[in-house]
Amino acid sequence: MERAAPLVLVLAGHVDHGKSSLLGRLLHELDLLPAGKAEELAAMSTRRGVPLEWSFVLDGFQAERDQAITLDTTRVRLKTPNREFVVIDAPGHKELLKNMIGGASAAAAALLVLDVQAGSEEQTLRHAYLLKLLGIRALLVAINKMDLPGYAEAAFEARAREVTAALARIGIEPIAIVPVSARDGANLRERGAMPGWYRGPSLVAALEALPAATPDRVLPLRMPVQDVYRHGERRVLAGRLDSGRMAVGDELVFSPSGRTGKVAELLSWPGPAQDAVEAGDNASVVLDRPLVVERGDVASHHEHAPKLTAVFDAEIFWLSATPLVPGRELTMQLGPRAAAVRVQAIRHRIDVATLAPELAGTIAAGEIASVTLRAHELIAVDDFAAMPATGRFVLRDAYVTVGGGIVDASGYPDHRAMPDRARNLTPMRHQVTETERASRFGHAGAVIWLTGLSASGKSTLAMALERRLFDGGYATFVLDGDNVRRGLNANLGFSPEDRQENIRRVGEAAALFAEAGFVCITAFISPYCDDRRRARAAVAKGHFLEVYVKADLAACEARDPKGLYRRAREGELKGFTGIDSPYEEPEAPDLIVDTMQENIAACVDKLIEFVAARCRV
Ligand code: ADX
Repeated sequence: MERAAPLVLVLAGHVDHGKSSLLGRLLHELDLLPAGKAEELAAMSTRRGVPLEWSFVLDGFQAERDQAITLDTTRVRLKTPNREFVVIDAPGHKELLKNMIGGASAAAAALLVLDVQAGSEEQTLRHAYLLKLLGIRALLVAINKMDLPGYAEAAFEARAREVTAALARIGIEPIAIVPVSARDGANLRERGAMPGWYRGPSLVAALEALPAATPDRVLPLRMPVQDVYRHGERRVLAGRLDSGRMAVGDELVFSPSGRTGKVAELLSWPGPAQDAVEAGDNASVVLDRPLVVERGDVASHHEHAPKLTAVFDAEIFWLSATPLVPGRELTMQLGPRAAAVRVQAIRHRIDVATLAPELAGTIAAGEIASVTLRAHELIAVDDFAAMPATGRFVLRDAYVTVGGGIVDASGYPDHRAMPDRARNLTPMRHQVTETERASRFGHAGAVIWLTGLSASGKSTLAMALERRLFDGGYATFVLDGDNVRRGLNANLGFSPEDRQENIRRVGEAAALFAEAGFVCITAFISPYCDDRRRARAAVAKGHFLEVYVKADLAACEARDPKGLYRRAREGELKGFTGIDSPYEEPEAPDLIVDTMQENIAACVDKLIEFVAARCRV
C-alpha cells in the first residue's frame, strides 16, 4: 500500500548560511507564496535601500504562526510538482527534538544548508551529528551562496569535498550535494545562473528523489501500547506500529511484563476488521485472552523481542543550561513510554570537532556525550543501530526537555526471564547447623567477592589471601575466573549473556561454599551491577562481602600481563572489558582495595583484617 503522506524534511544549518533565505526563495520559485507577497518584499527592500532578503518571507510566516497553535517550530508545507513535504525549520535543537518525538519515524530526511565560502568543519559536524542522533537517514546538502564566488566550479568542489569528508567521519553519506544560490534563485527549481559545469539535479529534483520515509516495515515488530479501553465486551489495545507488521493469529509478547497473547482481531473504523497492519499504521488489537497490559508496554513477536535491561549506554546531546552530572535523575521518554532513569556514569564527552572521546565530569549545554543510564526497573529497549524508530529517546526534567539521544545496550545482557524449570522439588534440611559449622572452623562462612577490571589484581590478591587465611586456620578456597572458565563454565564465552550466566553459576557455587562454612574468595571481573547484586542475594544476609579491586583502565592497560589489552586495542579481541565492553563500578562496595596506591602486601593485610573482623566468631 503506497501512502501519499508528505515527507517530513528537517531543515538544518547555520542561519548565516542562508537557511531561511533558501526556504523563502524556494517557496517563491514553487509559486507557493500568497499573491503579491514577492512584490511586497521587493517594494519594501527598495524603500529601505537594501537587497531583497528572502528570509523576510519566513518572518511573515512567523507573524501568522504567532496567532496559530504551533508554538516553537516553523512548519512549512512545500509542494513540488511531484511531491509534498512538511519542512520543519529547526531554529533550536529543543524544538527539533520535540518534533521528532511526536513524529517518530516520520522525519526521515534532512536538508543541510551550508555556505560555499564559510567552511567550518566543526559546525557541519555538529549539525550532522545531531541529525544522526535524531535518526535521520537521508541527508541532502545544499551548498548555498554560489553567486559569491561567481559560480566557480573549484569553489563548489572544494566545499563539497570538505563536507563529504566531514560527514564520512560520522558515517553519513549525503544523497546529493547541490550547488545553489538562494539570492539569485539559481538551481533551486530552474538552473538560472548555474553554469554548464554542473550536471547534477536541481534542488527541487533532488528533493523529489529522496527515498520514501517508511522502510521500517521490514524490521521486527514494535507497537508501544498507547491506550487500553473497552469496546463492548472486548478490551482493545491501541497503538501505532513503529516498525514491522502484525497479523491476525500472531502470538505477541508484551514487554517488560513478558505476558503473551494471540491477536484475535484487528479492529478498524469505519470499515471491516483488518487482516494485518504495518509500520506507520495505527492498530486496535483484540487479544484471544484477557491479559493485563498497560499503557507503555511494547508488543513484539517472540523472536526479535526488545532487550530487557535496567542499564544501558546512550549517546546523548545535552541542552539544559544546568550541566549534566552523574547521579542526576531524569525522565526518559521513549515514544509513549516514560521511565525514570539515573545517570549512572558519564563515560566520555565527544569533541565534535575531532570526534575524539575525552574524559569529562560534567556535560554542558550543547555538548554530546556517551553516558550509562540506569532505570529504576527493567525496561524494554532497542539498540538504535538496529531499530532506529524505537532506539531513540528524549530526556526530560519534569516537563522540560533537557536532551535526547540514542540507545546502545549491546554491551549489557538481556534479562528476559530465564526459563525456570525447577519443578516438583522438595528442599531438604541439613542436620548440621550453621552454628555448628562456624564453631568447628572458628569463623562464619562467607563470600569475599572481588570485582574489578582484568589485570586489576583480583587473582593475585585472591591467591595471596587464600594462603594467608589458610595459614591462619581458615577453611578457605578461591574460585578464579580463568580456572572456573576451563571447567564448570567451559561452555561460556564473553558475550553479555554468557558473562551473566558465568556470574550466576559462580554466585551459586560460592553461596554453597559459604553455606558449607568456607570463606570463599571469588576473582571475576563480574562487570555488571545486577549480576553482583544477584550473587549477593544467593548468600545469607551479611555473609556476602563485595570488594572493589580498584585500578583504572590506564593502569590495567599498562600492566597488561596477558597481552590481552594490546590485542583488544588492535581489534583482534572483541568485547574486551574496559575497551569495548562495559564495566560498572560498584557503587557501595563493602571494601575498596586500591592496587594503584598500595602494593600487594598492604592490600592483603587490609583484606585479612577485613575478613577477620567480619567472619571470626
Ligand atoms: S567475567 O566478565 O565473566 O566476569 P571472568 O572474570 O570470568 O570475566 O574472566 C576474565 C578473564 O578472561 C580475563 O582476565 C582474561 O584473562 C580473559 N578474557 C578473555 N576474553 C576476555 C574478554 N573479552 N573480556 C574480559 N576478559 C577476557
